[in-house]
Amino acid sequence: MKITTAGESHGKGLFAIIEGFPAGVPLDMVPINNALARRQSGFGRGSRQGIECDRAEILSGVFGGVTSGSPITVAVWNRDCGEGKCAPLTAVRPGHADLTGTLKYGGSDARAVSERASARETAVRVAAGEICRLLLEKLGVSLSGYTCAIGPVSDGAVYPFERLSSRDGETGMLDPALSLLAKREIEAARASGDTLGGVCEIRVKGLKSGFGSCMTYAQKLDARLASAILGIQAAKGVEFGAGFFGASLRGSAFHDEIFCEEGRIFRKTNRAGGIEGGMSNGEEIVLRAAMKPLPTLQRGLASVDLAMMKPSVAAAERGDVCAIVAFEQISESVVAAEICAAVLERLGGDTVDALAARYGELPL
Ligand SMILES: Cc1cc2nc3c(=O)[nH]c(=O)nc-3n(C[C@H](O)[C@H](O)[C@H](O)COP(=O)(O)O)c2cc1C
Repeated sequence: MKITTAGESHGKGLFAIIEGFPAGVPLDMVPINNALARRQSGFGRGSRQGIECDRAEILSGVFGGVTSGSPITVAVWNRDCGEGKCAPLTAVRPGHADLTGTLKYGGSDARAVSERASARETAVRVAAGEICRLLLEKLGVSLSGYTCAIGPVSDGAVYPFERLSSRDGETGMLDPALSLLAKREIEAARASGDTLGGVCEIRVKGLKSGFGSCMTYAQKLDARLASAILGIQAAKGVEFGAGFFGASLRGSAFHDEIFCEEGRIFRKTNRAGGIEGGMSNGEEIVLRAAMKPLPTLQRGLASVDLAMMKPSVAAAERGDVCAIVAFEQISESVVAAEICAAVLERLGGDTVDALAARYGELPL
């Protein structure tokens, strides 16, 4: 399975083509559109979210509401569209694609580069990923996640999978007291023309062992998931299981010992985060992703104006103060897409029924 996206922030819309998706999956648009709405939500978002009302429209690959095996084209149309909306952007923003992209693609106006670099593109990646999630659900694989940190406000608790759905709508956090602190932090950042980043945790439950491969580095499931996450705008880090903290432990404190009772093999811990040797090991996949503070600051950072080649204050485009809830949603969707690709790679299947039958035959 392969997903390609196209479209710009203020173009007509965003488009994804999903090739190699099996026939027979009913495309329920409600969860897809709910995920799109969640991508637009969260405390600290900018005014663009008030203009857009993202909905996925299926343009191909579906017959009678069910996937046909033909490439699926999904569109998310822009309301705020038209090149006239886009003034030249010459005072390039540190941390954005403006300077590097303009030097690479030419000219002194970073607008064309920023139109594609913009995280607006993630709307259609969410739509495509949520189509993949519908397939995973047919196999009994589910995904969830939450916000672990917003700026300096951090939650170190460990939560069971079932708790994750009770995350706060505005911050994505699970602890109400921390959520309140985080909202104050976002307000303070907004008041001083600044921005914030954060950390989210994504979990995958019910995936059997053996997806991904130890045979080829590019097929390693952790490598693939890390690549999917780092492909999200503003993503700056990924860790699995005990992650960076785990590097400080001894092997005896880190590795998940293996037990066997009445013919059943099991673990009591999951510090590996559900992946060993680049393959799912049947435990929950646990990954955390770091989002950097957003590059567009209303207070403006020192920069250069490429048209005049003189020092300047960076452009203060309208934008988000914090977009961690959206980042978490996007992370779930791209992880769903990557897991779906790994499952199809191993098991194939022209129809979802054939795929489900092969999946059902696998050991845990
Ligand atoms: C959901 C989401 C919303 C974002 N909103 C903004 C924003 O309002 N302003 C901004 O400067 N960057 C925003 N970004 C980040 C930029 O798109 C990103 O930093 C830029 O494209 C450069 O890419 P890089 O950070 O991956 O290097 C957002 C990212 C995400 C995922």
